[in-house]
Amino acid sequence: MSVRRLSPNQPASFAFSPETKEKAEWWISKFPAGRQQSAVIPILWLVQKQEGWVSEPAIRTVAELLGMAQIRVLEVATFYTMFMLEPVGSHALVQVCGTTPCALRGANDLIAHCKKRIGPKDHLSADGKFYWQEVECMGACSNAPMAAIDDYYYEDLTVESFDAILDEFAAGKPRAPGSAIGRQGAAPDGGPLTLSDPSLYDGSRAKPIKSLPNAPKPSKGAKEEPAS
Ligand code: FES
Repeated sequence: MSVRRLSPNQPASFAFSPETKEKAEWWISKFPAGRQQSAVIPILWLVQKQEGWVSEPAIRTVAELLGMAQIRVLEVATFYTMFMLEPVGSHALVQVCGTTPCALRGANDLIAHCKKRIGPKDHLSADGKFYWQEVECMGACSNAPMAAIDDYYYEDLTVESFDAILDEFAAGKPRAPGSAIGRQGAAPDGGPLTLSDPSLYDGSRAKPIKSLPNAPKPSKGAKEEPAS
């Protein structure tokens, strides 16, 4: 893992929005008195949701809120790669999975396309709209290759479908997430091959239960409860 440093370009200040502050207080209230520092990760995440990234003034503000040394909050923010340490694109943060299953299904072409369309990885695009990263497996290997754009997964991508999705983000009209080929969840390409019998879902296979497993045995002479 590479060293993660704060951006040299920092805002003068940071302030919680009322909504973010309310959520931060809720997180703090989940922990016992004196343990409020346990809320540092969700609060940094709230900061990132508010600003798009975690700035140095934000780290100071979070430390003050939680009564922590600033260096401790800095350590958390720089350790976890989910925290962005410099401004990200105004329209999309693109994270392309480059791990083996995605690489075998064309991720390298998506990465080459990001370089061509957005620019070098881990930098803002020239127009400030996009920022892209190569990341490790995001657990959607069955629908490889895939990319997370902001908070959602876009799967079964080709360069063409990926480019069209980026066009929509650039136009401010993000496409609904999911498979670019209409795959249902993580079912096989072409549709589910198992559990496809409708009778599994219409209740016709349901049978009355005569006795519950592990129920106490009826005492001698007692009649068994009739099936309803
Ligand atoms: S390898 Fe890409 S999501 Fe798992």
